[in-house]
Amino acid sequence: MNLHEFFAKLNEFPGDVLWGAVATAASLIGATFLGGWGLKSAISGTAHRDAKAEADLARLRANTAETDLEKLKLSQARAVERVQDLAIENSKLLSLVNTRQAGGAVEAQEAAIVADLRTRVSKFDALKDALFGAEDDLWRMKAPAPPEKFESRMRESRTRIVTIANLKGGVGKTTTAANLAAHFSIARGKRVLLIDFDYQGSLTRMMTLGVKIPLGSSILADALLGGEVDGKWTAQVSRELGASLPGMRLITCGPTFDSFENRILMRWLLGETSDDVRYRLAKLLLSQSVQDEFDLVIIDAPPRLSVGTVNALCASHAILVPTVPDRLSVDAVGRFLQRANAFRELNSSLLKVGIVACLTETTILKPHEAEAMDLARTSLDLWHGQGKVMETSVRHFTSLGRAAGREIGYLQDRTVRELFDKLGAEVAQQWQM
Ligand SMILES: Nc1ncnc2c1ncn2[C@@H]1O[C@H](COP(=O)(O)OP(=O)(O)OP(=O)(O)O)[C@@H](O)[C@H]1O
Ligand SMILES: [Mg+2]
Repeated sequence: MNLHEFFAKLNEFPGDVLWGAVATAASLIGATFLGGWGLKSAISGTAHRDAKAEADLARLRANTAETDLEKLKLSQARAVERVQDLAIENSKLLSLVNTRQAGGAVEAQEAAIVADLRTRVSKFDALKDALFGAEDDLWRMKAPAPPEKFESRMRESRTRIVTIANLKGGVGKTTTAANLAAHFSIARGKRVLLIDFDYQGSLTRMMTLGVKIPLGSSILADALLGGEVDGKWTAQVSRELGASLPGMRLITCGPTFDSFENRILMRWLLGETSDDVRYRLAKLLLSQSVQDEFDLVIIDAPPRLSVGTVNALCASHAILVPTVPDRLSVDAVGRFLQRANAFRELNSSLLKVGIVACLTETTILKPHEAEAMDLARTSLDLWHGQGKVMETSVRHFTSLGRAAGREIGYLQDRTVRELFDKLGAEVAQQWQM
């Protein structure tokens, strides 16, 4: 049925029925519409609520996330702060470590200084003990450190080395040294090296004035014991003494020598020298140059156990001990020979000793002089048969006394020459020189 037919039918119905139907239909439609709307409305209310809940949830989550983010940001900021704090802490520690390390270095330096000071204090104590103890202890304080092959070279040395020594002063050591050297040079044609180790310089004066050559200001003994020259220097720089003493050379000495010796001694005792200062002369005298240039070395020692004397004893084959033949003087000879004997620990070639009476009244000893020399002989017991009291005595010569320090008696006075020729012959025979 189409809409036209519907309305035709509708006209067939009575009005109230129609309206009733319309009302019913309307109510039905309304109900339908209202029901649908209500349903629809019910349905959309739930979704809305859900959405709202979701939104609320999302908002909540967003808030939470926001809070979390804030928290994270905060903790990140804190972490950054912490990192910064740690960096500061680290740099503080680093600088502390550096300071400690530097402090450690300083401590190490301080420890080294303390150790060094301790060593020095102990050395000073040893030095003090040695200085307050016997003089000989001072010289035997350290174990010997001689030059290489020292003993065999000393034994085989073609150059004979003699020290003229006595710790008693004014007994004729220098006079004997000068005149005996002149004998070996002139009468025996020996090439003699004469060494003055006495700061008084008596031998130096006597020899240079005696042959009339300028004294000069240089002290060669300083260099000889200074440890800085070699044998070649010793042979070449020593002073020539002119035609009257052919082949003889002199190592001069003078007033500053004793302070020089003291410095060497102190430096050695304090361990500040690399070598054993007791053997400095031996090292030079055993050198090829000296062995080639000289047959004989005669050393005039001072009346002290000085560095020079010790060097002389450590380099010699023999000691000649001038003495005045009186009781007191020969007692001093005994004491000296006892001390000299101890140096054989340092120089096993120091074997021979000769005691010579000087300044005697006549050539033949007076009974009291002979008696004194007999006493002197007893001090040779320690020398295992290698010691001798010389038969020749050096009497008092007026000319020697008068010319003291200005002339060499041997060159001026025939009687002096004859006497020293006799003594020289005895020495040469005794010591195979
Ligand atoms: N035989 C002698 N005749 C005369 N006078 C002498 C004789 N021997 C030495 N004299 C004189 O005696 C003094 C001391 O002599 P000399 O200098 O030789 O002794 P010294 O032992 O070397 O002394 P010092 O210990 O001081 O070194 C000097 O004036 C010297 O001229
Ligand atoms: Mg002298």
